Amino acid sequence: MSAASSPTPIKNILLGITGGIAAYKAAELVRLLMKQGLQVQVVMTQAACQFITPTTMQALSGKPVLTDLWNQDNGNGMAHINLARAADAILIAPASANFIAKLVHGAADDLLSTICLARGECPLLVAPAMNVEMWQNPATQRNIAQLRLDGITVLGPDSGDQACGETGMGRMLEPAMLLQDIIASRQPKILAGKKILITAGATYEAIDAVRGITNLSSGKMGFAVAQAAQEMGAEVTIISGATCFDAMHCTKISVTSARQMLDAVMSLVAGQDVFIAVAAVADYTIPAPNPQKIKKNDANLTLQLTPTFDILATVAALPNPPFCVGFAAESENLLQNAEQKRRNKKLPLLAANLIQDGFGGDDNELTLLDDAGAHPLLRASKLELARQLLQHLSKQLETTK
Ligand code: CTP
Repeated sequence: MSAASSPTPIKNILLGITGGIAAYKAAELVRLLMKQGLQVQVVMTQAACQFITPTTMQALSGKPVLTDLWNQDNGNGMAHINLARAADAILIAPASANFIAKLVHGAADDLLSTICLARGECPLLVAPAMNVEMWQNPATQRNIAQLRLDGITVLGPDSGDQACGETGMGRMLEPAMLLQDIIASRQPKILAGKKILITAGATYEAIDAVRGITNLSSGKMGFAVAQAAQEMGAEVTIISGATCFDAMHCTKISVTSARQMLDAVMSLVAGQDVFIAVAAVADYTIPAPNPQKIKKNDANLTLQLTPTFDILATVAALPNPPFCVGFAAESENLLQNAEQKRRNKKLPLLAANLIQDGFGGDDNELTLLDDAGAHPLLRASKLELARQLLQHLSKQLETTK
């Protein structure tokens, strides 16, 4: 997709809340949207006000919440038009079965449905939430199909336990997932059709039943790369050491040791377009860890360590390797050491950073190294850096086609 046809980034979002028990999740959603720096204008239907109060939503969004078509303070009686024009996107979450039916038929009998009808070019996203039987009803399924035909983005629903005690499809997507979907829906799909394999987190090499050797790595950067790649349309698989992160919409494979990570990578690498090694892999392992807890005594303890395989170098040396990207965290001589690493491992692209701020932070500063030289990226969130890395990578993929 060319830059000219790229969707505009969302700054102002109109969040429509309709009647359903999942309305309580809209509170968390507003908090997450605001954390992303978005302005959120909340509009609630009368039914939504039975589930969560406008006061709560007003406190969270920092703006008066609008609920009534006939009682607008804006004076000219055109709130439905003005609100639709001011928004970069409209999200209905939760979207009840009734509200979805109204959208399909172009009904405009309250403020929110009128805004939706008057939205013009403004993108509309809906997050259905309802009982499983209501979701499966052919009328709802017809309506959902029609929404899609009308160019409306349908987010979810998910399956699981429902408020009514039943289990099945119809749960609203969790707010964090919705946020990711909203951002993803506006990202140019520059990696559509690409399969990307990512390693993340730290490996752990057992010494005995309870002790081991590991590296400092939160896994945040690897999961940020996975998220950014998924936003850009790639099919992502992430192989990760222990982390607290969830790879939403990606296939996640959990491993412990460097050997397990290598085996998982080698079993999946065929057919991948890109391999991005973000993991902090242990360089040494204990070949025969003690199955029991080693008891302490006064004597020195010597551990026999053997080197692990370099996963990235192994993949890059395959006869027909995917496009390989490395990461290098250096404590000194950043560019020289990182460039040496890139050349040793025969990588078309490597992201280098200086270890100075400790690990696990949300921000970082990266320099991309390729055959054309060094491309410094300004300090930014790991997700933003991941997006810039992948934009760079997609241009390289274009030229190496
Ligand atoms: N890497 C890997 N397998 C290993 C070691 C490293 O795939 N056994 C990958 C990392 O995921 C990273 C890159 O290689 O993308 C560089 O990792 P790093 O640990 O910085 O480099 P090393 O080659 O181990 O060099 P050193 O530890 O000496 O700095």
